[in-house]
Amino acid sequence: MVFRSYLAPIHEYSDLAFRLLCQRYGAEAACVPLISSVAIAMDESRISLVDAHPDERNLGVQVFGNDAKVIGKAAHIIAKRLPFVSWLNLNCGCPSSRTMTDGSGSAMLANPALISKAVAEMKKSEKPVSVKMRIWGKREGTLAICRKIEEAGADFIIIHGRTPNQGYSGKTDWELIKSIKEALTIPVIGNGDVASLPEGRGRVESGHCDSFMVGRAAMRNPMLFSNKSPESARERFAILREYVSLCEAYGEITGSLRLRDLKLKAMNLLCGMQGAAALRARVGKAASAGEILALEDSAGGQE
Ligand SMILES: Cc1cc2nc3c(=O)[nH]c(=O)nc-3n(C[C@H](O)[C@H](O)[C@H](O)COP(=O)(O)O)c2cc1C
Repeated sequence: MVFRSYLAPIHEYSDLAFRLLCQRYGAEAACVPLISSVAIAMDESRISLVDAHPDERNLGVQVFGNDAKVIGKAAHIIAKRLPFVSWLNLNCGCPSSRTMTDGSGSAMLANPALISKAVAEMKKSEKPVSVKMRIWGKREGTLAICRKIEEAGADFIIIHGRTPNQGYSGKTDWELIKSIKEALTIPVIGNGDVASLPEGRGRVESGHCDSFMVGRAAMRNPMLFSNKSPESARERFAILREYVSLCEAYGEITGSLRLRDLKLKAMNLLCGMQGAAALRARVGKAASAGEILALEDSAGGQE
């Protein structure tokens, strides 16, 4: 289950079409962002919340929750209903106040016994199981949790090298990730602030992790996985068109919600180019996908 590069799960961003786009550009594995284990366990038809597709490769599905049995049941349903899914993931990293107050997401790091139970229940699905977590305190606290996860039978661990309290401030602690990798026998996927393919590869080559996961940098540049970046406004719009055609091919652009998704993609993909602020303001006001794509004419030649 260890591939070189992983696209990170990104709630309300890494949808099916975006994951396929990144996979086209070389992401070797991807993960469906967090899905409520309660929703799926209580009503199997809610499996429709998981927008996974057999055309994806090395796909994981991430669940969150605070009850090991419920998490296990959701894992079982996902494995049964979506047999092409390659691995399952437990979210122990989300720092949002909503997940923290109900004891799920990164709040689970305060309760390693619960994580162990959840992993053991998920393993009954017979799919490889991983945990995505953040640093908890310093090295010793984090390592103690990782050892429990390993003992519970997890196949690999994904670590974002920040604490929940940090949110996205400060820098990823790659030395801490490295020391965890050195202490465990299961693979460690390192995550946090990877800005390019060479940087990710470098982390693997220098022994910081067994492979790497990229989130925010891929939001702005899905070509990152093949060590390319769009060189002109035309290329940025070409990526946007590719995303739209994947949405259409996989039946995704269905209404205003999807327009919102497309706007978010456009905002990110057009980030950093000359005239981006004005262009992004126009994206914000656009009333259709066609209107957003037509902005290419006014962006012509800018970069
Ligand atoms: C908008 C947004 C949504 C995210 N959603 C999820 C999620 O659903 N599940 C998860 O485990 N992490 C989520 N993350 C965290 C990322 O997967 C990743 O761990 C984090 O962004 C650090 O990696 P990066 O520095 O490469 O972005 C999200 C991050 C962002 C910015």
